[in-house]
Formats: sequence, structure tokens, C-alpha cells
Amino acid sequence: MKLFIVSNRLPVKVKENEQGGYEFERSAGGLATGLSSLDSDYETHWIGWPGINVKRKTTERAITSSLKRLNYHPVFLSNIQYNNYYEGYSNSTLWPLCHYFYSYSQQRKKYWETYREVNALFCEKVLEVVDDDTLVWVQDYQLMLLPQLLREQRPNLRIGYFHHIPFPSYELFRVLPERANLLQGLLGADLVAFHTHDYMRHFISAVERTLHKEFKLNEVMVDNRAVHTEALPMGINYDLYSQVYHKKEVRRNILKVQKQLGNRNIILSVDRLDYSKGILHRLVGFESFLAHHPEHIGKVTLAMIVVPSRDKVEKYAEMKRKLDERVSSINGKYAKVGWTPVEYYYRSFPFEELAAMYCVSDIALVSPLRDGMNLVAKEYVASNHDSNGVLILSEMAGAASELKEAILINPNDTEQIADAINQALVMPEEEKKMRMDRMKAKISKQTVNKWARDFMDEWHNVIVRNKQLENKFLSDTHVDEIATHYRNAQRRLIVLDYDGTLMGFKNNPMDAAPTPEILELLHSLCEDECNKVVINSGRDAFNLEQWFGHINNISLAAEHGASYKEHGAWHDTIERTEWNNQILNAMQAFVRKTPEAWIEKKSTALAWHYRDVDTWLGMLRAKQLMQILFPICSMENLQIINGNKVVEVKPNEYSKGTEIQRLLALEHYDFMLAIGDDTTDESMFRAMPNHGITIKVGHISDEARYCINSQDKVIPFLKRLLNSNNV
Ligand code: UDP
Ligand code: G6P
Repeated sequence: MKLFIVSNRLPVKVKENEQGGYEFERSAGGLATGLSSLDSDYETHWIGWPGINVKRKTTERAITSSLKRLNYHPVFLSNIQYNNYYEGYSNSTLWPLCHYFYSYSQQRKKYWETYREVNALFCEKVLEVVDDDTLVWVQDYQLMLLPQLLREQRPNLRIGYFHHIPFPSYELFRVLPERANLLQGLLGADLVAFHTHDYMRHFISAVERTLHKEFKLNEVMVDNRAVHTEALPMGINYDLYSQVYHKKEVRRNILKVQKQLGNRNIILSVDRLDYSKGILHRLVGFESFLAHHPEHIGKVTLAMIVVPSRDKVEKYAEMKRKLDERVSSINGKYAKVGWTPVEYYYRSFPFEELAAMYCVSDIALVSPLRDGMNLVAKEYVASNHDSNGVLILSEMAGAASELKEAILINPNDTEQIADAINQALVMPEEEKKMRMDRMKAKISKQTVNKWARDFMDEWHNVIVRNKQLENKFLSDTHVDEIATHYRNAQRRLIVLDYDGTLMGFKNNPMDAAPTPEILELLHSLCEDECNKVVINSGRDAFNLEQWFGHINNISLAAEHGASYKEHGAWHDTIERTEWNNQILNAMQAFVRKTPEAWIEKKSTALAWHYRDVDTWLGMLRAKQLMQILFPICSMENLQIINGNKVVEVKPNEYSKGTEIQRLLALEHYDFMLAIGDDTTDESMFRAMPNHGITIKVGHISDEARYCINSQDKVIPFLKRLLNSNNV
């Protein structure tokens, strides 16, 4: 099976050589390493930008055909596209916002337009090379629109998405004018995964609040598809790093570094040049450490590796200037003959040199202000062969949710950084070893290979789930079968819930009066003598009578079966009793503290409605209210129903299900249909015999045989049944 990874960059650098030809250098970053572990199960291909802008189409074609041999498929971008999509929307709008640098985030129309344009270009490329069986793994924030673009073109394609950077709190994400487009873009995937559960939580909240969709645990329905979200922390190639100390080339480099830096304690920091990495705060913290602990002057060196990155983006260039100034200022103030406090390397280190730095360093100071994961922290731990190093780690890095044994710091608190350095320097050897070994145990298990496999497994689970769901959603074939059954039947029972089924929800329930279309449909259904049509509703008898009482032959059941109308007369199922005051008082208290909540008093039930309440607050209040009601209701033998934006208390003895039982006992039917959307309708589905047709509107239900994904499809479905009789 083919697996296509789609990321902004290809894991290869294309360079023009002196002869005017092109050379390819593979760059095995963490992602490429992790995914290579899937090579035995999949034929892996990669789609991405080749890292070079070429002017001629003939050159593009030559590069494309050379890369094809490596299973790489380049997407070429013009300079303008590169500027506005990569440096613009990706790195000047999304990146700062996702890293909580709100004021750095630039909103420019041309950035957004080009981001869309380039995502569409990637889409075109993917569609050129994949077929329906292919798995398409979209990687990271540069391509947030791609899953939906692909889904629109190929509804059956299997699409996974991994978000490699933080997903910010809704309060930040909502700032983006394009927030809904981005979220819809992601929901084109089967699986949307993040490094930590915090990012996942933020994503769920952003979808619920922006798109008004509701998650059930980690699943949300988009049209007829389930989309899952998951937290899958990315790891490293543990075996590679845990063995580096024994590599010849690394040992040679270790000796070089030791010679260069002398017999001093080395504090290592390694980052791309990025404001999110907290490099300036780190320098302030280090300077404060020197100021407060003069005993360490001359004995400790901060080896700071800064890898050039995105230097055309304004904020990055600005930061580089500040960084140079700060390093000069510290070195100018504290340096002595033979000792420079900050050894600053502004370049990328090849693997063996970086590994040597990991091995010789006594402390790794990893203090990003925000970081999706941070692999440097994990690489340092894995390379620390004798477990005598100390990791100081920012609590704002994704890695902190796993590496609890590090000295965790708030990277904004420069005094805490200073204290942490001192704590690390004086830490007893046994404690260092204990902390290191525990961290190693974790990262040796949660490797990059495991991460890639976990992603595939979770993705596979959604694919299986969607296969199962396919049979549940009412397809045209199902409708044809049901219509034939309807036409051939002699006696039919048709039980319909009202709100959320025949009629969409309205903020004020009395605004949900039946439309002429609904009334005409009900009239037509009732006119057929073979039909027994029942509206089985939570509404009270007065209301049902007012709206439907005039329809000949219709049966009505009010307040979840508390009373029913047969042959023109209403009957009560139970004796009406007085309400326990505590219940009403509790509901009233919750109305007072929840804006937009209100109480409906029915003859046999009390309902606390929260349709218009803020989603989060409504759910919190509903849970709190149910907790208070539970002991009272169990004493009184009352039932609490957690319905669709309503908490309802009613006697236990009857339900919409008992109404079905009553109807089934009356006569024999050879066609039975029940449609409903809410928790209370589940009892109706349960009471139907196995060969009955039960349809849940909205979410999937284990109790109902079929599901119709939206309320507006119910009337056309019923009309189709009616018309089948006229064929
Ligand atoms: N790295 C490197 N050479 C360097 C510095 C860093 O190859 O000179 C690698 C490092 O080994 C790590 C990656 O760059 O795997 C940085 O990943 P991290 O998650 O820490 O930060 P990101 O750059 O993704 O924000
Ligand atoms: C982060 C992002 C990646 C990106 C990498 C390097 O890790 O999540 O998507 O590839 O930084 O950034 P660059 O802009 O150089 O590709």
C-alpha cells in the first residue's frame, strides 16, 4: 500500500552545482527517520517544496524526474508564492499566533490568499499521484487547508493530519479572521493529531465554539464521516542517540570540544533562531546566574548553538540583532583571559558535532517560551551515556508533559532560570542519575518509530469506524428498500418525534410551530388508512393539541408518554403528583446563575433548558444541576434525562419507550418506523422489535438501526415513502 507524506519541505536539499546541474542531499530529520520505520509496510512517497526556486519549466521537469527515482514529488513555488505563503501566512501569521506571540501575528490579505493558493497547488500535486487506496499523511501548519481540499475532490481518500506546533487556546485562535476555514480544512482529515492533550483540548474547544459542532469524547461527525483527534507525543530515534558516545567520529569531536572549552562545566543550548525559543530570556537568566553566583565565574560556559532560520522574516532578523548585542554585552562584562562566558555558534551543526556537544555538556538548558514538542531535550537525555547530566526544561515545551524529572522552569522567570542553573550544578550525583534514568526509560519507549506507528494505528481505527458507519447512514439503497417495504405493507406504525426531527430547534420552543409543509405531510400520511401515525413528543398535551389536534386520525403522545390521544380523546398514563420543592428550587437557582437558561413546567415533568447558554457553561451547569438533583430524584423515584440542551426530571414509570410498548400491544403491524433525535428517543428505539426501522437524526446511535445526519433530510425521506405508494 502507498503512503504519501505531504509536508512543506521535502526531506532533501536540491542545490545547483558549479556545472549548472543539480545535486540532491537527503536530510534525515526526525520526521523522515520516524516514517522510514514504516517502509516495511508501505511504499512511502513524499510530496513537498524542494527548497529551491527555479525559473525554467525544463529545469523543473528535470528535477522532478530525478526526484521521482527517490519517490519524492516536488511542488515548485514562485518567489512571490514562497514569500507570501511560507514567510507570510505560515511564519508571520500562524506561527506567532500558535506560539502565543499574539502581537507578532500579521493579518494580510495577500498572505491568506497565497496560503490558499499554495494549499490548492499541493492538492493538485497529491491528486496527480494518488489513487483512492492511498494513505495521505499531511504534516503541519503550512498545509492546514489541504485535508478538506483533498476530501472535496476525493471523498474516499484516507487522510491523516499531524500538527507539529502548539495548537493555541481558543481565545487566541479566534483572533484569526480565517479561523473557520482553517478548522474546516483540518476536519477534512480522518485523524487530526497533536503532540499533547492540551493542544488537543484547545482544538476541540476551537471547533466546538467556531463551527458549533459537538465532540463526543474525541470524535466529531462531519457530514457522514467520523473525525478523531488524538494526542501522540513525537519521540526520537533513541537507539541512535544512546549509542553516539561510542561512535569514533563523535569521540574525536568530544576531544576537540573539551580542548576548546577547557575543563569547565558546560551548559548547552540548541535552537533554531526563533523568538519562541526564549533565547534572549535564557541569556538574561544566565547573566543573572553569573551575577548571583560569582563563585562560578570562569568555571561555567554557556555553549549556545543557534541555527539560522527564516532570516527573511522581519521578526527573526530583528531577533538576530538583539541576540548578537546581548551576547556581546555579557561577554564584554564577564569574559576573562582564557574564558568566554557565552560561546555562541550561529550555524547548523552536523550530526556528529551536535552529538559530541550533547555528550560533553553537564547541563542542557532548554527554555522555549512555547514549543510544540522540543526534540533537543530528548536527544540530550538519550545521549547522556553515564546519566550524570541535568536537563533544565521549560514547562511551555510539549516535552515537559513527559519529562517531569527535568528541572522544570517557567521560561519567563529569568531568576528561576538562574536558580535552576545553580541547582543543576550542585545536584548530587545520585539524584542526577535517578532523574536521567527515569527520563531515559520513558523516551526509550516513546520513540519516533512508536509515534509513527501509533499515528497509523489511530488512523486505521477511524477508517474502520467509518466503514462501520457507512452502513448506518441512510443511503439511497436503504431508502429504496424501506420504500418497497412501506408500499407492500398492510398496516403501518409510524412514530415521529417532533423537535429536532420533524422540525429544527428554535431558541424559543413556541417558535417551532409546524410549517404548512409539515402539516400537509402529516395530513397525507394520516389519510392513508393503512397508517397509524403518532407524534411521540416531550411537549405537553396542550401544545400538541393546539398544533396537531385538527389532523384526522393522528395519534399524539405528550410529555414522553405521560398522556396520549387515541380516537380523539386524551388519556393520562399516570396520576399527577405535586413536585418536591427542592427540585424546583435547585432549577431556579441554576437559572439565576446561568444567563439564558430557563425552566419549563409541564404537567408531569420539569425541564431546565440551556439551548442558548454558552456551550461550556451550559455543560458545566447541567452537570452541576444533575449532581444536586440525583439524590433527591432517587428518593422520589424520579428520572433525570440529560437531553439535547435540556435537563428534565420526570416520573420513572413511563417514557417514549413505554408509549411504543402500548402502541405495539394495540394491534399487529407489518411496517414499523420510529424516528427521533434525542436521548429520550433512545428508549423508543429500544422498545421497537428487531425488524422495526429505527432512525436517529444527527449523531450515530447504537440503539437505532440507521442514522440521518441532519434534520432537514427527514421530511424528504417521509415524502419519498408516501410517494412510493403512488408509483
Ligand atoms: N539540529 C541539527 N543541527 C543543529 C541543531 C539542531 O540537526 O545544529 C536538529 C536537532 O537534532 C533536532 C532538531 O534540529 O532534531 C530541532 O528540533 P526541535 O524539535 O528541538 O525544534 P524545531 O526546530 O522543530 O522547532
Ligand atoms: C518546526 C515546524 C516544522 C518546520 C521546522 C523547521 O519544527 O513545526 O514544520 O519544518 O520547524 O522550520 P522551517 O521553516 O525551516 O522549515
